[in-house]
Amino acid sequence: GIEAGGITEAYGEFGSSKTQLAHQLAVNVQLPKEKGGADGMCIYVDTEQTARPERIKQISEGMGLDANKILENIKFARAFNSDHQMLLVQKIEDLIVKEKLPIKLVVVDSLMSHFRSDFSGRGQLADRQQKLNKHMHDLLKLAVKYNLAVYVTNQVMAKPDTFFGDPTVAIGGHVLAHNSTVRLYLRKGKKGSRVARVIDAPHLPDSECAFIVTEKGITDLAPE
Ligand code: GTP
Ligand code: MG
Repeated sequence: GIEAGGITEAYGEFGSSKTQLAHQLAVNVQLPKEKGGADGMCIYVDTEQTARPERIKQISEGMGLDANKILENIKFARAFNSDHQMLLVQKIEDLIVKEKLPIKLVVVDSLMSHFRSDFSGRGQLADRQQKLNKHMHDLLKLAVKYNLAVYVTNQVMAKPDTFFGDPTVAIGGHVLAHNSTVRLYLRKGKKGSRVARVIDAPHLPDSECAFIVTEKGITDLAPE
């Protein structure tokens, strides 16, 4: 599970399961507390049009849940550009306060794709980082004020000056690094598995866990 009151950022290459994890979390947040859920709803901000209600259905059925009920408690919102993405997040507070929706998870998948394409020109980086900083603050404020969990996905790039070790770094620079409460680095493991590693979390041990994506959703893999 991920923690309420902060932002969990998952970064990793294509196919590393960032989106699948988002789908699984959108279901899990609805479970009762004794089953690791938060008895709450999910707002799913989709920027790459990769959110799949049918997949939510499949995962729910695999877990023995009422798929239609699960789907009713996920509000999908498609963001068309970075400004729209920011606006969608700013509107979430109304859903909580005015409409009294018990929102316990906000997903933004992917956080950076619009920011990357909307500010791709030379000299636009400072502008981008300023807007991104505002966006992250809006998300963090929601997380803290309403004790909900925020899950954002991020892309990676290869760091050209790495000679030893894994050259993969998350994009978004310090703005993301500083505002994410927990960072998860997802990568492809052996035999189709995926590996999640907790990066730089002061209150958590450096740890890794392996999982697989199946029809029924995400399942832990016992350590070898
Ligand atoms: P990008 O968004 O392209 O950067 O990748 P991602 O990290 O979001 O990967 P995603 O979560 O979309 O996919 C991860 C893996 O999950 C894929 O490589 C597939 O093996 C698996 N997967 C994706 N969709 C399904 C599905 O509907 N059913 C099952 N069983 N597996 C799936
Ligand atoms: Mg994805």
